[in-house]
Amino acid sequence: MTTIDRSTNADAAADASVKAKHRAMWASGDYPALAHDLIADLGPALVDACGVRPGMRVLDVAAGAGNAALVAADAGADVVAGDLTPELFAAGRAAAAERGVEVTWREADAEALPFADAAFDVVMSCVGVMFAPHHQQAADELVRVCRPGGTIGLLNWTPDGFIGQMFVLMKPYAPPPPPGAQPPPLWGDERHVAALLGDRVERMQTRRQSVAIPFATGAEFRDYFKQHYGPTIAVYRHLGADAERAAELDRALAELGEQNLVATGTATMNWEYQLATAVKLLCARSSGRRLTFHPRDYIKNARTAVHVFVLARSNTSATPDWHRGRQQLRRRGPACRARRAGELDLRGHNRRALLRPRRQFVPQPARLAGAGRVRPGSSPGSSTSSC
Ligand SMILES: C[S@@+](CC[C@H](N)C(=O)[O-])C[C@H]1O[C@@H](n2cnc3c(N)ncnc32)[C@H](O)[C@@H]1O
Repeated sequence: MTTIDRSTNADAAADASVKAKHRAMWASGDYPALAHDLIADLGPALVDACGVRPGMRVLDVAAGAGNAALVAADAGADVVAGDLTPELFAAGRAAAAERGVEVTWREADAEALPFADAAFDVVMSCVGVMFAPHHQQAADELVRVCRPGGTIGLLNWTPDGFIGQMFVLMKPYAPPPPPGAQPPPLWGDERHVAALLGDRVERMQTRRQSVAIPFATGAEFRDYFKQHYGPTIAVYRHLGADAERAAELDRALAELGEQNLVATGTATMNWEYQLATAVKLLCARSSGRRLTFHPRDYIKNARTAVHVFVLARSNTSATPDWHRGRQQLRRRGPACRARRAGELDLRGHNRRALLRPRRQFVPQPARLAGAGRVRPGSSPGSSTSSC
C-alpha cells in the first residue's frame, strides 16, 4: 500500500494537487441538495449507531453539509464538522441555523486531521472518509483523534451495492486515479475496515443495510447524478467532446439504475451500505510497578472505568464484557486494598473503579485485539504498553 510522506516537498506538492482536484470535484454540482434529497436517513443511522449523547465531543469526518454532524448536534453533542471542501459548509451552516443547533465547521483533510490526539469521544464519517484516496492514512487519523475508549463509526457504500457498482462502471470513462489511491467502496468491506483499524480497536460491529432512493427510472437517476454528484460530473468532464463515449456512459448508467429497480421490484431504488462501529482500545502508560491512566482518557466515562476494572482483573488480555465488569465493580473491597498497597495509581478516576491486580497489572493492547474473552493466567508480558 503506497503511503504519502508529506515531509518531502515533491510528495506534499503532489498530494496538495490531488486534494485540490478532489475539492473542486466535490464543490461542483450540488452535493448538499443530493444529501438532503436522497440520503438524509443515513446521518441519523450513523449517529444512532455511535451512541451519541449530550455533551460528547463528536467529530464528523468528511462531513459535507453536515448530514450526520447536524443530527449529532441535535442530540446535544459538541460537534465539529470537518471536510476537504469548505464550499459545502454554507449549506450546512444554513441548515444548522434552521434547526437551532451549533456546529463548528472546519476545513480538514481526512488524511491529516487538524486536531489533537484523543480530542473526540466519537469520530464518525458518513459516506465521507471513504473518498480520501489513501485509506490507511485516513484510518490512522480516525484512530488518532479518537480518545481511548471512544467510538469510531463509519457508514460506507459497499463494493457490491449500487454506488459500488456505479464506481466500477464509471472507472473506464474516468481519469486515472492518483498513484496509491484505493477505490472508495473498499471501505464498505468489513475485512478492509478491520485491517485498516487493526489492533487499535475492539468490539467492532458491522451490519449491512439499504437506503431506499426515490428514482422511478434509471434515466432519472442518471440525469440527477449528472447534475448534482461531483464524481459523476468529473467523469463526463473528462470525456469532454467525445460524444460517442458520453452517450455510451449515458446508456450504461441508466441501465444500471434500471437493473437496481428490477431487483427491488418496487418504484424505488435500493442502495446498500455498511455500518461499522468499533471502540478504541484503552491506552495505558506504565512505569515500573505503578500504572497511571491519564485522567482525560478515562475519568469522564463510567463505562470506561468499568472496562479498566475488567482489564486489571484479567491481568492480561481484556474482556470487553460490560456486565461482568459491572458485577465485579460491586465487589470492590479487594480493589481498595490494592490501591492502599500502592500497586495501582488511578489518580483522578472514579474511586469505585479501583482495582486489585493479581500480579503486576500490565494491559497489552496488541493482545487485546480480537481477544473476545479473558484468558486467565496468561502471562502479562512486557512492562510498558502504548496505543
Ligand atoms: C459523499 S460526500 C459525504 C458528505 C456527508 N458526510 C454526507 O453524508 O452527506 C463525500 C465528502 O467527502 C469529502 N472528502 C473527500 N475527500 C476528502 C478528504 N481527503 N478529506 C476530507 N473530506 C473529504 C467531500 O468533500 C465530500 O463532502
